[in-house]
Amino acid sequence: MDSKWFCVLLVMMLVSLGEGCWEEERTALLQLKPFFDSFNYLHNWVKNSKCCEWGMVACNNITHKVITLDLSTTRDEKLGEWYLNASLFSPFQQLQSLDLSFNYISGCIENEGFERLSRLSNLEKLNLRGNNFNNNILSSLAGLSSLKYLDLGENRFKEAINIEGLHSLKVLDMSYNEIDTFVSPKGLSNLELIDLSGNKLNNSILSSLGGFSSLKSLYLEDIGLNGTIDLEGLQSLENLEEFYMGWNRIDKFVNSKELHNLTTLEELILDGSKLDISFLQTVATFTSLKHLLMSGCELNDISQVQGPIKFKNLESLFMDGTTFNNSFRQIIRPITTLKKLSLQNCGLNGTLHDQG
Ligand SMILES: *[C@@H]1O[C@H](CO)[C@@H](O)[C@H](O)[C@H]1NC(C)=O
Ligand SMILES: *[C@@H]1O[C@H](CO)[C@@H](O)[C@H](O)[C@H]1NC(C)=O
Ligand SMILES: *[C@@H]1O[C@H](CO)[C@@H](O)[C@H](O)[C@H]1NC(C)=O
Ligand SMILES: *[C@@H]1O[C@H](CO)[C@@H](O)[C@H](O)[C@H]1NC(C)=O
Ligand SMILES: *[C@@H]1O[C@H](CO)[C@@H](O)[C@H](O)[C@H]1NC(C)=O
Ligand SMILES: *[C@@H]1O[C@H](CO)[C@@H](O)[C@H](O)[C@H]1NC(C)=O
Ligand SMILES: *[C@@H]1O[C@H](CO)[C@@H](O)[C@H](O)[C@H]1NC(C)=O
Repeated sequence: MDSKWFCVLLVMMLVSLGEGCWEEERTALLQLKPFFDSFNYLHNWVKNSKCCEWGMVACNNITHKVITLDLSTTRDEKLGEWYLNASLFSPFQQLQSLDLSFNYISGCIENEGFERLSRLSNLEKLNLRGNNFNNNILSSLAGLSSLKYLDLGENRFKEAINIEGLHSLKVLDMSYNEIDTFVSPKGLSNLELIDLSGNKLNNSILSSLGGFSSLKSLYLEDIGLNGTIDLEGLQSLENLEEFYMGWNRIDKFVNSKELHNLTTLEELILDGSKLDISFLQTVATFTSLKHLLMSGCELNDISQVQGPIKFKNLESLFMDGTTFNNSFRQIIRPITTLKKLSLQNCGLNGTLHDQG
């Protein structure tokens, strides 16, 4: 091509991009608008304006293609439950992040589910939190092969769920549903964080997590863990760093096989638990543990602890609102690595004589 014409073409392209976005994507955005404009948040989504400058939209600076759509909390509850046509998002070929949280969506229109987005090969983040989706959408999500972050919290998933197909996920949040059985025959080898807090699970969940070999963060708060917790089921979590298990009714931790003592665990959160004090002896075998949070706990049988418990690397201990008597001080005094200790409202009384 003649270089003069090339320049003219280039200038024309730049001028048309001066419009701020691609016609096809602007049209697609305007098709979405009626579903998500209850509160007039999309007031600047109007024809003949630069759609990359519209609210809730972000484009790639170079290609001017839409990469982020944040439509969270844009639909009024008064409009009632409704079904989504996921095809409406298929024109956004470079979309990386889609947020549809808190919009009272009940599911997808038949044959217009998330499988329609399987060609969006950059889609990494999907937030469907706070809608009314149920188990039926899981199979359609399995087709999204680039997905890394999926938030399905506060929906209507219930009973047994199977997440076998979600191979690419790094982060999965299914908290605050009514799941009672978690099926994942082979686990998900890329998964680094899973949040199942607030479901109707029980101790048997611990043996269902075997295949999650990359897991670093495990959130199992308020799921009905009860009585004696055997850590045997967590043997294969060789990368676990954070474990949230507060607001359950755990009495004891045991490690019946003692093969692997969660030696990578750095942070253990047990807030709001009712614990048999002997659990500390097991926790002390987690040799990398740096942070132990046990605020608002009820501790039993303090007298049963024989001698000081030797934590190797504990740096912070938070026990606000956990009532114990002075004999417990014998237990925590010898932790020489400790940098932060918080004991507000613990019922301590009298003079602290401890040195060091
Ligand atoms: C795109 O532009 C915005 C604002 O002009 C800037 O904050 C951002 O860093 C840019 N991103 C890239 C990838 O250049
Ligand atoms: C869903 O949206 C697509 C794209 O706009 C459209 O072609 C299709 O007819 C819609 N389906 C239904 C059932 O409305
Ligand atoms: C744990 O939950 C599963 C699935 O609902 C159930 O089959 C099992 O009986 C429960 N176990 C206990 C100890 O409650
Ligand atoms: C806890 O487990 C015991 C048996 O181990 C059972 O009797 C009790 O009902 C369980 N409590 C709850 C709240 O699930
Ligand atoms: C796990 O901890 C126990 C003490 O509770 C210890 O006897 C055992 O050797 C430890 N296992 C490993 C692999 O460190
Ligand atoms: C602390 O509580 C334990 C039982 O919880 C009791 O045996 C012990 O005597 C108490 N110590 C003090 C100093 O009150
Ligand atoms: C502290 O302990 C003393 C003696 O054990 C008791 O008389 C006093 O009431 C206690 N104070 C508080 C605030 O509990």
